[in-house]
Amino acid sequence: MSPEQKPDSLMTAEGLRFDGRRPDEMRPIQMEVGVLKTADGSASIRQGKTYILAAVYGPRELHPRHLTLNDRAYLRVVYRMATFSVPDRKRPAPSRREREISMVIANALQPALFLEEFPKAVVDVFIQVIQADGGTRCAAINAASLALADAGIPMKSLVPSVAVGKAEGTLIVDLGDEEDKYGQGDVPMAILPNTNELTLLQQDGSFTREELVEAIEMGVNACRYLHELQKDALKRAYSKRATEEDDDEEDEEYDDDLETDLGEADIMEDE
Ligand code: CDP
Repeated sequence: MSPEQKPDSLMTAEGLRFDGRRPDEMRPIQMEVGVLKTADGSASIRQGKTYILAAVYGPRELHPRHLTLNDRAYLRVVYRMATFSVPDRKRPAPSRREREISMVIANALQPALFLEEFPKAVVDVFIQVIQADGGTRCAAINAASLALADAGIPMKSLVPSVAVGKAEGTLIVDLGDEEDKYGQGDVPMAILPNTNELTLLQQDGSFTREELVEAIEMGVNACRYLHELQKDALKRAYSKRATEEDDDEEDEEYDDDLETDLGEADIMEDE
């Protein structure tokens, strides 16, 4: 975003955010599972204007071999932003920020996975940010954990993730780009919903101890909501697949009928 688009104020006199949201209100979210045919598992997420695709391949043979882990699979996460994902053309070469976010995402996902079931293999998670408008690491974790589930990687649970920030002294959930850039800080987090373990907790900006505790509470609540959306996206994908499989079976029956009909026609002609 160019500096001249900086909003006059991030909060209104009525206590709403400059885009009209309440402090604890998420952006509109859409998650889809199985969006790529070539990948073993895939998912997309639209969170406000942030739009991300995640693809999972594996478990499969690991190259280069020197990365091999004898007791578990190596979780290789590659987070990249498309050059057109932000108004200022993003340089195509992997940046330090992208490498760091890749590592942070791997660390957030790893505790949810039974990687010890696949020693020496690799599970590849490719994340492509198509459009960035704040909160890309958290949205990427939401999509990547769905793609891992879609690939059938054994998991303890999905991993929902969100950032809580601060604007003009008010704690706000799920920051957009302007809130991220011009706000007073943000705390991205991810949880394992079954055990309430935090698998990601970062902090940018300054928060009092009380604010931090409240921010985590707000984030955990938002993660519970995201977890419901994730489960719903998985269910929708599985029921769609089940319907498609039923349709395929019906088509096969129809093909059999056609063969029979043609066979009968041949006999008629012979006569
Ligand atoms: O995306 P996330 O909040 O996880 O990470 P960030 O490093 O705090 O980046 C915040 C936002 O800055 C991104 O979501 C993008 O909207 C924007 N950004 C950008 O405009 N150009 C970049 N090269 C990197 C980030």
